[in-house]
Parts: sequence; structure tokens; C-alpha cells
Amino acid sequence: MRFDILTIFPDFFDSPMQEGILRRAQAAGQIRVAVHNIRDYALDRHKMTDDRPFGGGEGMVMKPEPLLACLDDLEQREQGGPVVLLSPRGRQFSQKVAEELAAESRLVLVCGRYEGVDQRFTDRYVDQEISIGDYVLSGGELAAMVMVDAITRLLPEVLGCSDSALHDTFSRGLLKHSQYTRPREFQGMGVPGPLLSGDHAAIRGYRFLESVELTLEKRPDLLAGVRFSPEEVALLRKSGLWVKVKEVQEG
Ligand code: ADE
Repeated sequence: MRFDILTIFPDFFDSPMQEGILRRAQAAGQIRVAVHNIRDYALDRHKMTDDRPFGGGEGMVMKPEPLLACLDDLEQREQGGPVVLLSPRGRQFSQKVAEELAAESRLVLVCGRYEGVDQRFTDRYVDQEISIGDYVLSGGELAAMVMVDAITRLLPEVLGCSDSALHDTFSRGLLKHSQYTRPREFQGMGVPGPLLSGDHAAIRGYRFLESVELTLEKRPDLLAGVRFSPEEVALLRKSGLWVKVKEVQEG
């Protein structure tokens, strides 16, 4: 998958792209990330990428021409895939949106700055606006980084253990079960018995029930869309959690 990122702060991406999964995915050719400096496409000698808003008001607005020149230049070399503008006004990013976008072969991520982007650029050249949450960042760079990370780990072959994204929190609307590692005892606290039993079915059942319990406690809103298999329903009934799940789902 190819990511083209348009930004006035290209250095922003240097370090996060050189660590962990993102570094490995690039080295293995599973993703390619190209960062483009919008300032290189500014038309005037001061290399201005922003200007004062018509109608007055606080801050500066990103000019449409450098953004378009940058996008045009990219289109000469690479085509296809949606153009996404990172903005607090966009539709909310989620695991579901990440899954949807992971099916693309290319994404263009436009990082807005200042008080916004000239609406005429957005109207004509942006396919979708995405927000990573209901708060205002100084710009879209952090949001673009979040998207690249969340999408990359969904690509087949990227995660070491091929099915570990399947067990992620949110992959099916349940929070992930708790994890423990050595030492077996830490400050007087042990590890739940089933995890030490070596019985894989018992471990799966224990983890599943813990996921449901955690979700009921912390994010009951997530349970609304979750469907359970007959085996899972049997486990939930036996543990007494089924009544609570039904209450939340039907309430
Ligand atoms: N730019 C500023 N705030 C943002 C947000 N919450 N999501 C995406 N882009 C942004």
C-alpha cells in the first residue's frame, strides 16, 4: 500500500516512520510512504502556503493553489485511491474506517494546518474528510500518522503473528482481554489460573469472558453491534454474563 502525505512539516514524519512495525513494513516493501512538502509548490517568492481569511477572523487559511500543484505533481506519477483531508470536521476515524481504507492500494493524506483549508480545494479535490477525535490538534500531521499506523497493522503479512490484528481490541467490537508475562508473581499478585493451565480451550474461554466483562464495564456502547456464536452464548450463559449482555444489547 502506498501513502502520499501532503504537509508543510515533512520532518514531522521522520522519526515515527523509522520505528517498529512502520519501519519493518517499509523495509519489506509492504508499505511505501512518500512525504511531500506543500511549500515546495508555493507560487510566490516568499513560499506562502497560507493567507488571511476573507471575511476576517482569527488565524490563517491554507491557500488552494500550492495544495493543487502538489496533488497534480503526484498524479503525474501515481494514480488512484481516495484523497483524504485530516480535519476535526471529518467523519470519525475508527477500526471500521481503518479496515475500509486498508483495502485501498493508495491513500493521499492532506494535512490541514492553521484555521483550515480553503473550502474550494476541499470541495473539488478531497474525497473524504476524516477526524481522529473530537478535539482540535494544531494540524493534521499527528492524525495522518495515527491513520498510517492503524491501517498498516491491518495489512496482511505486516504483523509478525498473522492473526494478531484479529484479536485486537475493536476488531469485533470487544475490548481485548488482559495480558500477563513473567514473573509469575509480582508484588504479591499472581496470574489468573486458567492462563497457566496449558489448556488452550480453557484459556480461550477465559479470555473471551474477560473481554466481554471488560467491555460491559468500560465500553458497554460497543456491545450493541456484537454477534456471538452459539458456543460463545453457551459460555456467557454458564458464567452468568448473558443476562447483562442482553440487557445492554436490548436496552
Ligand atoms: N486537525 C486538527 N484536529 C484534527 C483532528 N481531531 N482530526 C484530524 N485532523 C485534525
